[in-house]
Amino acid sequence: MVGFPRDERRDVVVVTGAGGIGTAVARRIGSGRTLFLADASRGQLDRTVGVLRAEGYDAHGVVIDVCDHASVRKLAETAAGEGRLAAVVHTAGVCAAIASARTNFEVNMVGTAHVIDCFEAVATRGTSLVCVAGVAGHYATLSDEDEVLLATVPAEELLELDVVAAVGDDAVPAYIVSNRAVQVRVEAAALAWNLRGARVNSVSPGAVATDMAKAEAGSVYGEHLRKMLDACGAGRAATPVEIADVIAFLAGPQAQYVNGTDLVVDGGQSAWLRRH
Ligand SMILES: NC(=O)c1ccc[n+]([C@@H]2O[C@H](COP(=O)([O-])OP(=O)(O)OC[C@H]3O[C@@H](n4cnc5c(N)ncnc54)[C@H](O)[C@@H]3O)[C@@H](O)[C@H]2O)c1
Repeated sequence: MVGFPRDERRDVVVVTGAGGIGTAVARRIGSGRTLFLADASRGQLDRTVGVLRAEGYDAHGVVIDVCDHASVRKLAETAAGEGRLAAVVHTAGVCAAIASARTNFEVNMVGTAHVIDCFEAVATRGTSLVCVAGVAGHYATLSDEDEVLLATVPAEELLELDVVAAVGDDAVPAYIVSNRAVQVRVEAAALAWNLRGARVNSVSPGAVATDMAKAEAGSVYGEHLRKMLDACGAGRAATPVEIADVIAFLAGPQAQYVNGTDLVVDGGQSAWLRRH
């Protein structure tokens, strides 16, 4: 619990995003640990923290906006000050059905860059960061030069890149490119994390049955998505627990030689798209 004497402090886990995937991750890896849940929505955060505390988790809510570097840095410093930082799972994000092109870039791309940078500064031996991207990132067709820039320019320069300007106001390509940015930034960050004895990876889900997927299902892309899930043989969206299980693997000791990679968890959807 926060305030424990130093030698009794528990390992710390941070989960950004108190939505569908974030809550499943918190349950999956939060037992017996000091758990920080961080979200922009006070209401969402209070509800989730209340439920988790009632279930016995030592959960603490922190309101943050991942677009704001200072608020992410404060979260990282607060969490690292409470004990050994075992795992950080970054699930806070938006999609094309609920947010503008600009917001997709700000939250998914710049927000993730802030999380990678701020938690790298406090990561210690054994810390594992897992960022949730999306399988859509693998459908981006960007030049090598654009990918290098997305992977490496400072966070505050990302929104100025030509590849971002080229997308314009269309939220769908913005979602796709912002997810690709997460994947390539994670890959580029692996060296710095390795040198600290820490790791950073991403998970790219297909459709997951959360509020976000409900918003997608009700949008113009919903019918297309349903047909694709049927055609690829999955026939359904993933449950949040199925994503949390993969994240728990990447966050835990069985994945200690896995660094800088992206794990696709989409029920075979992208394999079907590429080969059939
Ligand atoms: N659900 C899916 O089908 C699906 C598919 C592929 C990828 N993803 C990705 O998985 C991640 C989690 O999605 P989910 O399904 O749990 O969604 P969700 O909507 O249930 O949860 C997302 C949470 O992020 C929070 N958030 C949004 N903007 C924020 C900001 N600026 N700062 C802090 N918090 C913010 C929201 O308040 C919300 O609680 C997202 O990055 C999403 O893009 C989801």
